[in-house]
Amino acid sequence: MCGIIGFTGKQQAKPILLDGLRQLEYRGYDSAGYALGGNETPTQIRRVAGSVQDLVNATLEDTSIEHYGIAHTRWATHGAPNETNAHPHQAGLITLVHNGIVENYSELKTKLEAKGIRFLSQTDTEVYAQLLEEKRKEVLSQRASDWTKISNEEKESIVMEALRACAKEVDGHYAVLFLVDGVNDTLFGLQEGAPLVATEANGSAYIASDLQALLKYRSEMTFIPKGKVLIAARGHLRLFDASSGKAETPKFEKIEWTAEKVEKEGYETFMLKEIFQQPMVVADTLSGRLPIQESSGFIWDHLKAHEVLWKNVKRLQLVACGTSYHAAMIAKYYFERWAKLETQVDIASEYRYRSPVFEPGTVVGVISQSGETADTLAALRLANESGASTFSICNVPTSTIARESGFQYPTKAGPEIGVASTKAFTGQLTVLCALALDVGRLRGVKSDGAISFQGLARLPHDCDQILQNSKEWIELGAKLSTKKMTLFVGRGTLYPVALEGSLKMKELTYLPSEGFAAGELKHGPIAYLDPEVAVIVLAPKDELYAKTMSNLEEIKSRGAMLIGIGTVGDSKLQETSSAFIGLPQCSLGTLPILAAIPLQLIAYGAAKALGRNIDRPRNLAKSVTVE
Ligand code: F6R
Repeated sequence: MCGIIGFTGKQQAKPILLDGLRQLEYRGYDSAGYALGGNETPTQIRRVAGSVQDLVNATLEDTSIEHYGIAHTRWATHGAPNETNAHPHQAGLITLVHNGIVENYSELKTKLEAKGIRFLSQTDTEVYAQLLEEKRKEVLSQRASDWTKISNEEKESIVMEALRACAKEVDGHYAVLFLVDGVNDTLFGLQEGAPLVATEANGSAYIASDLQALLKYRSEMTFIPKGKVLIAARGHLRLFDASSGKAETPKFEKIEWTAEKVEKEGYETFMLKEIFQQPMVVADTLSGRLPIQESSGFIWDHLKAHEVLWKNVKRLQLVACGTSYHAAMIAKYYFERWAKLETQVDIASEYRYRSPVFEPGTVVGVISQSGETADTLAALRLANESGASTFSICNVPTSTIARESGFQYPTKAGPEIGVASTKAFTGQLTVLCALALDVGRLRGVKSDGAISFQGLARLPHDCDQILQNSKEWIELGAKLSTKKMTLFVGRGTLYPVALEGSLKMKELTYLPSEGFAAGELKHGPIAYLDPEVAVIVLAPKDELYAKTMSNLEEIKSRGAMLIGIGTVGDSKLQETSSAFIGLPQCSLGTLPILAAIPLQLIAYGAAKALGRNIDRPRNLAKSVTVE
């Protein structure tokens, strides 16, 4: 979703801000803009509806040499995605960018309008900027100061007080970054629930909503905690508590990700690169964690705390959104079968608004690639507040969800740039599979042989084998792009895989698609089967093979195009289907991980044939930081 970048320092700010915006593009956005602070002149803003490249093209004549400024990519929430609603927004001396939502913006706007303030945009952000400017004027008049005559330090102190007063009146989870005419070379930020990360390097200070935009400058970063004000000036960062106003020392952390990792490295898209990284992701995620022998446990960081977490567990609640929710659905099968643990799976946006029961022994696990998804974070906070033991499975160890969870089981997928999640899903399932096995061991459950750590150990090799046929699946996807719709069906752990295949298809192609449990076919969806519909049936030779094969006949007799995904060498499935994909022989536990890969490639091929923007599908955002 929206991205923020800010710079103050020795270099020319504009190229740094535009480069930062490019690094944030993957999050999804529909307009972009920047503001450059002029120490002697009023701040100038430039905005466009469209891409960062459109902003670059529209501002070629702007050769300003200003050394500080802010920039933003906006994903529309309040007001259409047009130039007027794009950030930055200005109110008097304030120029501001914002991520998140001002929940009480309408009430605040009415009060400000009653004071005679006129709004130019439909955004909640402009309300914030106007309120802040009002507060600045109030503090100034209380101190009987003349803005044009006071020192930079005094102006800074006035803005701080105004910001703290503003924060008290605003409800919502958000972050703002702004500059104030007359407070030279200075940027102000407030973290109120949306991430802000910052770093200092060679006399300059950099601030962003996402560390990706800062990786090239320095690998030590400071994550601004919630409720803290940040002031950046002349290459230095200072931190203050928003409630007390007291100064604090920023804590810097070393980040392991490197800037090189966020390049396409010869692939036509980030998504394709990420699909091909999956064998490596599984290997990295398992590296150092596999047990030494069958009877010993997986080697997690903080092993003792891991054992304490699961010692008295009675039930598990897994909560997530989108693709991560599908990983949770698969994990339900894992935990119930191998750990004999009652497992409930919830969509985060539903969980947070019902009344989940937290009896003693309830462990709540949240799953999130980004670690910033608003609904998942709210679900985690609800569980934490209710006294449940919590853990997270996140791909970004520095994210808010990872930090706020009781225990972390990180995935090692590295930065995922393609909006459609692929390798992060595989990383999540790898951790979940290992975890369910290990919890089963801790609970003394006898293994049923459906998965073993040896099965997991050969997973990178099996993923690699599937990718050998990638060209075929991409071509098959191109054929499906001409169909009216695609239906995905499967049973057991392959039912959530069918949902995931369908999600990939619709988000990348914008075509209708559905996923169903194969047994549900004749309870409704069979009605729309005709030759213009394609049905992808997941039917490997597992315990449910015979059942799924009978569904296959039902589909065929309605004339739909049938694509069978099954065990390599299954001639029966091959003969019945118009196209067949053979999965390598593997254990039941790793099957859903492997079966998801051809579906990613099929959706990829369909989107490519339709000329879609594969890395950034329309209307979608990588990190969904508003509910
Ligand atoms: C789909 C996709 C989304 C995310 C969902 C949750 O390809 O990427 O459905 O899975 O927005 O995001 P995270 O995992 O970051 O919480």
